[in-house]
Amino acid sequence: MKTIIERVEIENQEKVLKKAAMLLQRGGLVAFPTETVYGLGGDALREEAAQKIYAAKGRPSDNPLIVHIADSKDLSVIAKTVPETAKKLADKFWPGPLTMILPKSEKVPLGTTGGLETVAVRMPNHPIALGLIKASGVYIAAPSANLSGRPSPTKAEHVIEDLNGKIDMILDGGKVGIGLESTIVDLTEEVPMILRPGYITKTMLEKVIGEVKIDPTILSKNQISQFKPKAPGMKYKHYAPKADLTIYEGTIENVVSAINQQAAEQESKGVSVGIIGTEETVHLYHGGIVKSIGSRENEESIASGLYEILREFDGLEVSYIYAESFQTQELGQAIMNRLLKAAGYNIVKV
Ligand code: TXA
Ligand code: MG
Repeated sequence: MKTIIERVEIENQEKVLKKAAMLLQRGGLVAFPTETVYGLGGDALREEAAQKIYAAKGRPSDNPLIVHIADSKDLSVIAKTVPETAKKLADKFWPGPLTMILPKSEKVPLGTTGGLETVAVRMPNHPIALGLIKASGVYIAAPSANLSGRPSPTKAEHVIEDLNGKIDMILDGGKVGIGLESTIVDLTEEVPMILRPGYITKTMLEKVIGEVKIDPTILSKNQISQFKPKAPGMKYKHYAPKADLTIYEGTIENVVSAINQQAAEQESKGVSVGIIGTEETVHLYHGGIVKSIGSRENEESIASGLYEILREFDGLEVSYIYAESFQTQELGQAIMNRLLKAAGYNIVKV
């Protein structure tokens, strides 16, 4: 299949969105930017569009898709019931990086929800995403627009790398803002529960709806063997770079010294090594290919650099990657959740 790739600018936006909208209406697949990561969109109410999405991504079809809407009012079309908590969260955080899990309405096919009676819904905060939903009149089911298991795409180039030739169209809207997927909160439980941490943190949610729990599998592999993650996607190995990734945790001095030692050892054997450092530390490493993921003073920069740096190291074909670790509160929780998954929970305390 030939994939149409269009850079979306203010001057051509209307025309390009019209073309993309037509493809969606005919059951086709269009990748588009959101504020979190790029999504791979199809008509959420058509079973066969969901099947095409799973095929293009190589994704297991028991892993449900998020339905994207452009107007909070449509929540009641997608969900069977809309509790007060959902209304409050929509008012406060939509459009934005928050996905809510609710009982699904009759309209949503089981193909879209991976066979579940619940559905994930979100209203993205990006003019191209919102423009596409409105222009097409279609609710858009969209997982991240990467091949299953690869880091989520934060630029159109990443989508092209993974899906060129497999989908109808890619809308290039430049680099996304946040760089990590939306927070997922399950509202079908007595106490709402975060199934995937993201930019909207537990503290932010609790200010609006009171107590919120966190799925215990988010930061620990041991917990995964005891409990089953409630978001089916969280059980799969994810975001895995080709190299063997290890995270070092401890004081900055200890981490830098342990990584330097490990890198020197590997390089003496002729093995190539990548290092994930920060603005504050990159100058402290003597060997390996050193990249800065962002600044420790600005966690948002780390979030937005994470997936790109993993893809860059794939391109460089290093055998090992050594990464610094980050705090696990607030946005750091989402960063460490993704980094730990990428590392297969391979963490060394120093
Ligand atoms: O930021 C995002 O959320 C991006 C952009 C494109 O919107 N989308 C995204 O979709 O990350 P995806 O498919 O890569 O991740 C969706 C996650 C999966 O882990 C899936 O298992 C979970 O949401 N999920 C979807 N529906 C669910 C449901 N009914 N119950 C529990 N988990 C669900
Ligand atoms: Mg994904």
